Amino acid sequence: MTPALLARLMSGEGAALLAALPPYDESAAFTLADRLRAEGFDADLVAAALTQSRLRARAEDKFGEAAHSMLFTVDGLEQATRRQIARLHARRLLDSGTRHVFDLGCGIGSDARAFADAGLRVTAVDADEVTAGVAHFNLRAFEHAQAHCERAEDVTVPAPTQARDAAVWLDPARRTPGVSDIHGRTRRTFRLDQLAPSWDLVREVSSGSAAAGVKLSPSFAHSQIPLGTQAQWTSYDGEVLECALWWNDAAWDPGRSAVVVSDQFAYEVLERDADGANPETARLDRMHGFLYEADRAVIRAGLSGALVRRVDGAELDTGIGIVTSPRDVIVPWAKKYAVSDAIPFNIKALRSWVRDHRIGRLTIKKKGASVDPEQLRRQLRPRGDNEATILVTRVGGAHAVLMLVPTA
Ligand SMILES: C[S@@+](CC[C@H](N)C(=O)[O-])C[C@H]1O[C@@H](n2cnc3c(N)ncnc32)[C@H](O)[C@@H]1O
Repeated sequence: MTPALLARLMSGEGAALLAALPPYDESAAFTLADRLRAEGFDADLVAAALTQSRLRARAEDKFGEAAHSMLFTVDGLEQATRRQIARLHARRLLDSGTRHVFDLGCGIGSDARAFADAGLRVTAVDADEVTAGVAHFNLRAFEHAQAHCERAEDVTVPAPTQARDAAVWLDPARRTPGVSDIHGRTRRTFRLDQLAPSWDLVREVSSGSAAAGVKLSPSFAHSQIPLGTQAQWTSYDGEVLECALWWNDAAWDPGRSAVVVSDQFAYEVLERDADGANPETARLDRMHGFLYEADRAVIRAGLSGALVRRVDGAELDTGIGIVTSPRDVIVPWAKKYAVSDAIPFNIKALRSWVRDHRIGRLTIKKKGASVDPEQLRRQLRPRGDNEATILVTRVGGAHAVLMLVPTA
């Protein structure tokens, strides 16, 4: 989309056309485009409006109903923070004493909207003219927020001595410009040296600000965590979406932490929760009645020890994130199963178990084990009226199979 086309979509004829479009239906898009062109709308405007309609439908997952009053770019939507997580970013900065956020690389403005909605003053910039224009549009309801086209490198953020309540938010692009897939999305990069704005700039600006937050890939390495910052891995509905680095006034608990988020709750697990956890790993001949599986954000943060400590149990194997315990407790950021049986991994023994228990419907989970569940299912030949879930994993260094009963 060109800046001129974006301007046409934001007002007058283009805005009216977009508002009048029916709910997006891929199978009807061609006919609709033909009809609109026949009604006298020019082809570029029709194409741009239909693209927005398609992106709004796709954006509902991240933004809910609000998507229908927003504009998007393909890359901007892909990279945008989902609203539930953006709200947590805003809450963190607000609770750190921030009143004015400089969002340096704001994309289509998802985080910026959450900051503005939390009452923070927002100065948002993006180096890309169209993206900045889209963010400006998406912030139009907030008087105290504005976005414009500028490079992060050229923005002067007030020093803490001038404004203790000014913070920086950086969500650097993790895309390789110019390399697109068939859907027009640029290719993702996991390399810190390919971030835009650069990792050097991110560290310089963040460390020099009263408070700062930086959104990075969940694959961010523990060894790269800058001294004194808090690295926070966040999952939404079980999927790890980001590692946020918090600096200075926003780094409340320096070190590693995890935040487990769903529409109903957000729980934080801190490094100190894992301190002093029993380093013992489990033994197959001493398997306890319950298994607890930590949320992936907790595992990425390297905090399985917090689960060990919480349920007073033993991890099946180092770093695996599954803990056996005799205690029946509720841990909101872990799934719980009852264990009915535990045997060493052996196809023949497992096949006998499946046959003896007349298991016809078999769910095969795996964690830390190199097996192909579908191949294993064929080898086990499940037949019968009963249902079972098995976990192929490692216990104390050796492959093992645990028979699980889900609990409420
Ligand atoms: C991951 S997106 C930001 C997404 C945003 N937080 C949201 O939730 O919608 C990163 C943005 O940084 C912008 N960008 C990259 N390099 C930049 C630079 N040097 N200065 C300003 N913006 C830059 C890109 O154009 C892109 O829109």
